[in-house]
Amino acid sequence: MALTYGGTPRPATFDPPLVLAPMAGITDMTYRLLLRRLGGVGLVTMEFVSSEGLTRGNARTERLLRYDEEERPLSIQIYGSDAGRMAVAAERVEELAIDVCDINMGCPANKVLKGCAGAGLMRDLDRARGIIAAAKRALPTTPLTVKFRLGIDDTRHNYIELGKICEGEGVAAVAMHARTAKQMYTGRADWSHIARLKEAVSIPVIGNGDVERPEDVLAMLEKTGCDGVMIGRASMKNPWIFKQAALLLAGKPYEPATMDERRAIILEHFHLILQNEADQPRVMMTKLRTFTGWYTHGVPNGTELRRRISSLPSPAAFLSAVEEFFESQRQRAAA
Ligand SMILES: Cc1cc2nc3c(=O)[nH]c(=O)nc-3n(C[C@H](O)[C@H](O)[C@H](O)COP(=O)(O)O)c2cc1C
Repeated sequence: MALTYGGTPRPATFDPPLVLAPMAGITDMTYRLLLRRLGGVGLVTMEFVSSEGLTRGNARTERLLRYDEEERPLSIQIYGSDAGRMAVAAERVEELAIDVCDINMGCPANKVLKGCAGAGLMRDLDRARGIIAAAKRALPTTPLTVKFRLGIDDTRHNYIELGKICEGEGVAAVAMHARTAKQMYTGRADWSHIARLKEAVSIPVIGNGDVERPEDVLAMLEKTGCDGVMIGRASMKNPWIFKQAALLLAGKPYEPATMDERRAIILEHFHLILQNEADQPRVMMTKLRTFTGWYTHGVPNGTELRRRISSLPSPAAFLSAVEEFFESQRQRAAA
């Protein structure tokens, strides 16, 4: 079930139609590579980058732009409130030869909203249209997509209007997180709106929000008729979710990850972080702690390991703590 973001000389086709959601602070190069290697993910997305940072050669932004050929197809997400600057940012994306350029119109964070970027653009659809049109002109070969929410709050659901604007401006696909900006991450995503959006536009619609288990992918596709499914938070605790969902899509059963697979993924992520963040030891240790925390959720005695690694000073100490943990798990299981 391949999905194509078309309408440009360099369309992006991926199969299965499963997309890693952009997550600031999480979907860095190491995480994206890891998911690619586990399999099942169709399109991976980078962390969002500001059009300001992208066009002013900001050092932090340049780090965010790193990617590996192995990640393709790969999407970048840009945000900003000024059409001119967003066009310059889009030109830069075109030069970087990333496969897809996405515009963020869903971020509910106050500092982004106040600058009238992210979900703030759902308050001003004329400005949103101007930004989409300017970015589209600056991307002659790269497919452009837009990610948004239902609207600012429950009194203003204007996602259909925005979806139609996207369609009219030549956007290749839209992704919708079925919550309002005001909801942030509270309550439940209401998938019925994804079905409504799908009925209203003819470009591909990617559904997003509260896909927690592989089975939810099938449920979202069936209930909403959407063309693809985007998964964010669930991939942090279960990075195998894409592979498991891909098996279900192919009509095959899946097995939950074993302890050996968990150990292997922690070690692989460890090595990727060591390779890519060696020049920033503090960032490196924070990342090592964070991801090991996710991958050991729901694992017997996982809290034991999480407590231990919270105060470890070096990657070597971290590595031996992880090895000891899995060895003791093995012995407990054998006893
Ligand atoms: C830590 C974190 C960072 C996020 N960063 C972004 C972002 O940079 N851009 C964006 O469009 N959405 C961002 N999101 C929202 C996700 O892309 C996604 O829409 C949301 O988490 C709902 O999907 P889920 O229920 O599968 O997690 C972020 C979410 C989280 C939890």
